[in-house]
Amino acid sequence: MTNQLYAVVGNPISHSKSPRIHSLFASQTGEPVEYTAIQAPVDDFSGAARHFFEQGGKGLNVTVPFKEQAWTLADHRTPRAEKAGAANTLYLDKVQDLVADNTDGVGIVRDLQVNHGVSLKGLRILVLGAGGAVRGVLGPILAEQPAALTIANRTVAKAEALVRLFANDADAALLTACGFDGPDQSFDLVINGTSASLQGDLPPASAKVIGPDTVVYDMMYSLQTTTFNQWALDNGARRVYDGLGMLVEQAAESFFVWRGMRPDTAPVIEELRTD
Ligand code: ATR
Repeated sequence: MTNQLYAVVGNPISHSKSPRIHSLFASQTGEPVEYTAIQAPVDDFSGAARHFFEQGGKGLNVTVPFKEQAWTLADHRTPRAEKAGAANTLYLDKVQDLVADNTDGVGIVRDLQVNHGVSLKGLRILVLGAGGAVRGVLGPILAEQPAALTIANRTVAKAEALVRLFANDADAALLTACGFDGPDQSFDLVINGTSASLQGDLPPASAKVIGPDTVVYDMMYSLQTTTFNQWALDNGARRVYDGLGMLVEQAAESFFVWRGMRPDTAPVIEELRTD
């Protein structure tokens, strides 16, 4: 069978691990998938996406800085993409309409629950950051029914806006917003969803949020311990995870959306970890 074409589109794109991940999925499952990387011009995502589908492409992953544009471009959005305000997965439906989906939230939930054995139900969760990355994952996290979820952000108004947006997804009383100096007790789970470490900064959270039993999750990943996770370890955390598993799990969910088949993620995470 001739290979069907998929791609990740972003700018820049040369460091993306998605082609590697999807190639591993394709060889593991035997699906006829060819997956490439496309660098779209910063001012013409829609042109690049349309061209890809006109050439017979079957599905796109979308990454920085085009996730919001992908959401806007689509004719239809899945409910989880609708709420996320951004899309990382595009495909054509039976009548050739463009559908936007978002698999990032499922990615982090599955990485925590399946790969790390951290069930979110009943947990007290602190999320640092209130940008696009956090908005993209809040719905699936709240669906797991944590006991409480606090969003702390440098710009408090953005955290408050997310609380309003997701109030109906949770028991509103348990969803709260604050600045980084707001929380003064430890949490069961602390998730770093800021992009602070990209600039070499730490989100200035108080070390009080970390207790010996706190699970710490950095949505960023790195082959070394991330800056945020090192800070957490220095402040007494015993379990820290980075976002490599989330990256592979969101890819697996996209693969499932496109191909109807779930790859086994564990060997793929293992292989990327040892690169
Ligand atoms: P992304 O798509 O990665 O979420 P974004 O929408 O620009 O990117 O959001 C970046 C997030 O990281 C925001 O929560 C931002 O805080 P503000 O909302 O106050 O801008 C946070 N962030 C970025 N740099 C930071 C820094 N140096 N210190 C603390 N927070 C930072």
